[in-house]
Amino acid sequence: MADALVLAERDGAVGIARLNRPEARNALSAELLAELIALVEAWDTDPDVRCIVIAGGDDYFAAGADIKAMRDRSFQEALAHPALSFWARMAACRTPLVAAVSGYALGGGCELALLCDMIVASETAEFGQPEILLGIIPGGGGTQRLARVIGKQRAMELVLTGRRIGTVEALAMGLVNQVADRDEWLAKALELAQVVARRPPLAVRLGKQAVLAAEETALSAGLDQERRLYELAMATEDRVEGMSAFIEKRRPEFEGR
Ligand code: HXC
Repeated sequence: MADALVLAERDGAVGIARLNRPEARNALSAELLAELIALVEAWDTDPDVRCIVIAGGDDYFAAGADIKAMRDRSFQEALAHPALSFWARMAACRTPLVAAVSGYALGGGCELALLCDMIVASETAEFGQPEILLGIIPGGGGTQRLARVIGKQRAMELVLTGRRIGTVEALAMGLVNQVADRDEWLAKALELAQVVARRPPLAVRLGKQAVLAAEETALSAGLDQERRLYELAMATEDRVEGMSAFIEKRRPEFEGR
């Protein structure tokens, strides 16, 4: 059997998906994307998995879509390509996603990191949307998510020039949550994921949904949505437990109910 293109690891309630195509700098082939989405969707329906980390290797998170496979793809094939559904399916994941980025996150690799809810980067990380250098533009959400995260002017520059940015700039732009030393990037991402995994899981999912609504809606519609999600959180047993634990000065035991 061929080696898995995505390695599945577990650290307690955290699932770690490690892209594993080193000979191609973790280029996102259709096969790799199929493995990744199958794993993420399986974890998303597993109540024991409360946060998911998506990681690459020390020197590359992912070098983008597989250019060798793309070159000879016809327009008709591109329109019907199975990888197209990958982005929407990933975005539908209700479990929080943390990207652990070391080395290159380029093109679709940068888009994959942007699709995650938080990004922990190694000091060696480099982000960029170099598609313009290939005669295309980002197609995995890069133009939209980048503009929302770093603002239109900066996104425009990166998309139209293909310039890569390092972690100092990425941090200043608000693209990454944390920068870690080069030998600590995965540990730091796991640390963050473990904190989220300890929180009451229903409230975590509602919180993710509510924050993402800020990108989709106008303020008043977003506030309405937040109110509905807040009311749902108020209906959970976990919130009674959380509030009781506070009052009784003990640690809460969240059951996901
Ligand atoms: C296919 C790739 C690849 C890619 C690297 N390789 N990136 N193969 N698709 N995206 C292959 C190389 O061809 C080479 O194969 C091997 O990996 C090692 O690559 P090198 O370039 O020799 O490595 P290095 O010098 O370390 O440079 C790393 C790199 C560079 C900076 C990441 O490889 C690079 O610029 N890659 C392309 C990045 C890019 O343009 N991404 C955007 C893709 S378009 P051989 O056979 O020679 O050993 C995109 C659109 C998304 O992402 C659309 C979503 C719908």
